[in-house]
Amino acid sequence: MTILKGAVIGYPVQKSKSPLIYRHWLKAYGIPGNYEAIEIQADELSHRLSQLIDQGYNGLSVTLPHKQTIMSLCDEIDDTARAIGAVNSIQIKDGKLYATNTDAFGFIQNIKIAVPDFIFKNRRACVLGAGGAARAIIQGLVEQGMTDIIVTNRTRTRAEDMVTTFPSLRVVDWADKDQALSGIDLLVNTTSLGMEGQDRLDISLDHLPPSAVVNDIVYYPLMTDLLKNAESRGNKPITGIGMLIHQACRSFHNWCGVDPVVTDDLIQAVL
Ligand code: ATR
Repeated sequence: MTILKGAVIGYPVQKSKSPLIYRHWLKAYGIPGNYEAIEIQADELSHRLSQLIDQGYNGLSVTLPHKQTIMSLCDEIDDTARAIGAVNSIQIKDGKLYATNTDAFGFIQNIKIAVPDFIFKNRRACVLGAGGAARAIIQGLVEQGMTDIIVTNRTRTRAEDMVTTFPSLRVVDWADKDQALSGIDLLVNTTSLGMEGQDRLDISLDHLPPSAVVNDIVYYPLMTDLLKNAESRGNKPITGIGMLIHQACRSFHNWCGVDPVVTDDLIQAVL
């Protein structure tokens, strides 16, 4: 049986939920091993990574500020991580680093579980934001066969930069986002707007079709104003906590060969 020697690496990492999630599954499935949070600053990544390999670590979660810089230190990077342009999960075997990005999987899985009959293929989505999370989400949507994806971002050039990777994207001005919701099947907020302590997300859902599904990747608060508005007008709201947990499921599968079940206990513990 695999023994997991795992860690999340980043700076800061003290608030990371990863140790809680992975230790929960190690215990639940009786898998030997441990999972820690290891603080590594940007300028010490290369040599600290070598140390972790020497110490026998075999599963790493990667968080800020290393998600992009670590790519040059990996031996293999899969197509998903390449398209997203960032790595969040690494398996170490025989001293070699195999990198992927599990955020796209986590996002899609969260939607599939919340709305099992949701059809992605040939449907239309609108993504608010153009940061790292948006890239992973758009990759997930493209992999599922969504053909018409609108992206709108406060800084328009950041959205336009993504068209190089995802040629079918349509960029819409942030000022025109309300009208962009007309005829869409899925709306996703990937910005930090609406998070506790951040500015509110100022958007009108008047043009949103009643059948559209609305997902906010902000999960603190769990029911953001966007989701409350969506729910009050009959749109199905999907909270963001599932994306966090399902991206971890994929890493756990890669490291330990087990597909963990996401239980309410775990969700409550993470919240
Ligand atoms: P992540 O990697 O988590 O996606 P990020 O790269 O910092 O984080 O992206 C944050 C997103 O929230 C961006 O789309 C950002 O818009 P800009 O590219 O214009 O910065 C968006 N965002 C953050 N604060 C915002 C605000 N006050 N109004 C509009 N968008 C905001």
